[in-house]
Amino acid sequence: MTIGPAGAALGAEIRGVDLKNIGSADFAAVHRAWLDHQVLLFRGQELSDDDFIAFSRRFGNLDWAPIQETGRRFVDGYPEIYVVSNVIENGVPIGSLGAGEAAWHTDMSYLEDPPKASMLYALEIPPRGGDTWFCNMYLAYECLPDTLKQRVQGLSVKHDGTYNSGGYVRQGVTAVDDPVTSPGALHPLVCRHPETGRRALYLGRRRNGYVCGLTLDESESLLNELWSFVVRDQFTWRHEWQTGDVVLWDNRCTMHRRDSFDADARRILHRTQIRSESRPAF
Ligand code: SIN
Repeated sequence: MTIGPAGAALGAEIRGVDLKNIGSADFAAVHRAWLDHQVLLFRGQELSDDDFIAFSRRFGNLDWAPIQETGRRFVDGYPEIYVVSNVIENGVPIGSLGAGEAAWHTDMSYLEDPPKASMLYALEIPPRGGDTWFCNMYLAYECLPDTLKQRVQGLSVKHDGTYNSGGYVRQGVTAVDDPVTSPGALHPLVCRHPETGRRALYLGRRRNGYVCGLTLDESESLLNELWSFVVRDQFTWRHEWQTGDVVLWDNRCTMHRRDSFDADARRILHRTQIRSESRPAF
């Protein structure tokens, strides 16, 4: 097994490993690499849903998948698997997020206990488009200008639970476009990673984000400043998918977004969410 950087800002590719049969010494090295590089890529995997769940469980207990836009919760028999897809079968989408852009976000941060990690397994990938971008939120925090770094200390952000990253209203939620009153969970704007001890910005998603205790204008102005800073090229890495790729990321110190792709092409990925042992905290 070899481990090499995938991008300048974050990410590593691990080669020479079959995730169906990974021994404890190799798993320990994978776990270390995940904490060091925040996102891991394994190419050429051939996994059943059971294999994918078994490998995901090596990192911790799994959360059930969020409810899809159709109201379906999960793949039959696999409540842990979230389907990311634009494919429509018998008039019904088999997954979530369609073929449009998915905006920058960290997974499920509208919950009090968001998952610490997520893993995607690529089953069908379009010939072009649909790349997924990752952003290093440790580095973004560390590089903040001093004045901005001081301004964010001690603040909390409301992470909106109205819309998913594809812009679709979540099941059971009434659309509210007022960041002050929209539903969501509060988390510190700067969080300390419980395993590495490093500090990272924890922004969640931009739409309906709200910095508690500020006026709406002050909150919008601070969030706009932070968001335009953190998604600079120097903090990001772009992943071009191949069928058989598995990508694991740490939701506590990264964000991700997805490019749009041709709606007539097929894209199907399965995702698991690994439960956190602690809430986001400073
Ligand atoms: C996600 O946000 O989990 C999906 C990303 C993707 O479609 O590549």
